[in-house]
Amino acid sequence: MLLRTLAAVSIAVAAATHAVAQMPLHSWPDADLALGERLMREHQCAACHARKVGGDGSAIYRPAGRINTPGLLRGMVDYCSTELNLGLFPEEVTSVAGVLQRDHYRFPAAPAK
Ligand code: HEC
Repeated sequence: MLLRTLAAVSIAVAAATHAVAQMPLHSWPDADLALGERLMREHQCAACHARKVGGDGSAIYRPAGRINTPGLLRGMVDYCSTELNLGLFPEEVTSVAGVLQRDHYRFPAAPAK
């Protein structure tokens, strides 16, 4: 009985994951993802996050937490850049946010108006 319930739950989860994968994701038109990846390596974002949460550091990114819109994500990257004195240009902030969006947050695109 329990096993059957578990099987049903995992099928539901798999279906939900699939549905999410099909949804168009939000993206910033001026995000340069290769640049964003390079900036994240240069500024050791993952190394510091790993010291805080362990593993590869990606557990720090909590899409269901307080960072729950693309605007807040970009704002958080901007805030970190300022706090850590990284001196990122606006398009660099957008590029870093674009990488985090693609790899971790995966916010859906806003419905077409
Ligand atoms: C000196 C350490 C350090 C560095 C370097 C660092 N961060 Fe962070 N970052 C943190 C800590 C600590 C938190 C968690 C803050 C909290 O939960 O209150 C955090 C949280 C975040 C979050 C929010 C996660 C969430 O979903 O709540 C984002 C996004 C983020 N960092 C992006 C970056 C990016 C991008 C870089 C590199 C450009 C970077 N951070 C560099 C320490 C760092």
